[in-house]
Amino acid sequence: MAASDRFSVLAILPLLFLGQVFPQSIIQISPRNHRVSDEDSIYCDSWRFSVETNDAGFWSTIPKRCKNYVENYVTGDRYRSDSDFVAGDSITFARTVRMNGDGKDAWVFDIDETLLSNLPYYEAHGFGLEIFNESLFDEWVDLAEAPALPASLSLYKELQQLGFKIFLLTGRSEYQRNVTVENLLYSGFDNWERLFLRGPSDEHKPAIVYKSEKRSDLINEGYTIHGSSGDQWSDLMGFAVAHRSFKIPNPMYYIA
Ligand SMILES: *[C@@H]1O[C@H](CO)[C@@H](O)[C@H](O)[C@H]1NC(C)=O
Ligand SMILES: *[C@@H]1O[C@H](CO)[C@@H](O)[C@H](O)[C@H]1NC(C)=O
Repeated sequence: MAASDRFSVLAILPLLFLGQVFPQSIIQISPRNHRVSDEDSIYCDSWRFSVETNDAGFWSTIPKRCKNYVENYVTGDRYRSDSDFVAGDSITFARTVRMNGDGKDAWVFDIDETLLSNLPYYEAHGFGLEIFNESLFDEWVDLAEAPALPASLSLYKELQQLGFKIFLLTGRSEYQRNVTVENLLYSGFDNWERLFLRGPSDEHKPAIVYKSEKRSDLINEGYTIHGSSGDQWSDLMGFAVAHRSFKIPNPMYYIA
């Protein structure tokens, strides 16, 4: 074995170990380090603040001048750090919750860009610069290869240990149930209480209405929705909202 081979085997060992703990939890996208001018950096920081707070309201594609900024953000340490912060705030809250202890303590998770990362897809489609193409995205969903967002996987496991019942509420359609389950299991998520997908009667509802209705059903079944996690405001707002809602970063797209 050549010295360089030995070196690469050693370098890869920690990765193999992590892979055994959380299979597929590492987002395998190499960090971009585009040079971004000071003006663009300040402009795009403000743009990101505006979209993350929902001050911007509806938007369809990222500003052209922020392409490199968004690429650097989602492939770099900041996205991971921001996600870690949200998961940290979520778990801090979860530990203070006075549980009913009746098996009806609920936490609701969205799936895409919340539990699962579609970065490999968005990498091939300009990280939000292209207008969303549903048929191409559905082909990606069918592969069932989306990795877990590491911070959300840790949060998910810890909430289960605290006794929360986990509900998954996604804008994906009922016909995507099997690939969605396959992907969730492959990425390390299991033992959820129920997975809601859009049925035929939900197809044309705005996400905010469809998701509010499903949360309302849960409350009518006697559940207390203590917390809710999503990358879109439409995952979190509307009616029958959780006691606390946690917004996970997503500067690549907006769903009303
Ligand atoms: C989506 O992509 C496919 C394949 O490239 C293309 O044929 C189709 O026109 C696109 N749809 C939209 C709405 O852009
Ligand atoms: C989904 O999985 C269930 C149970 O494994 C199976 O009965 C059903 O045919 C599958 N549906 C599709 C569309 O593949």
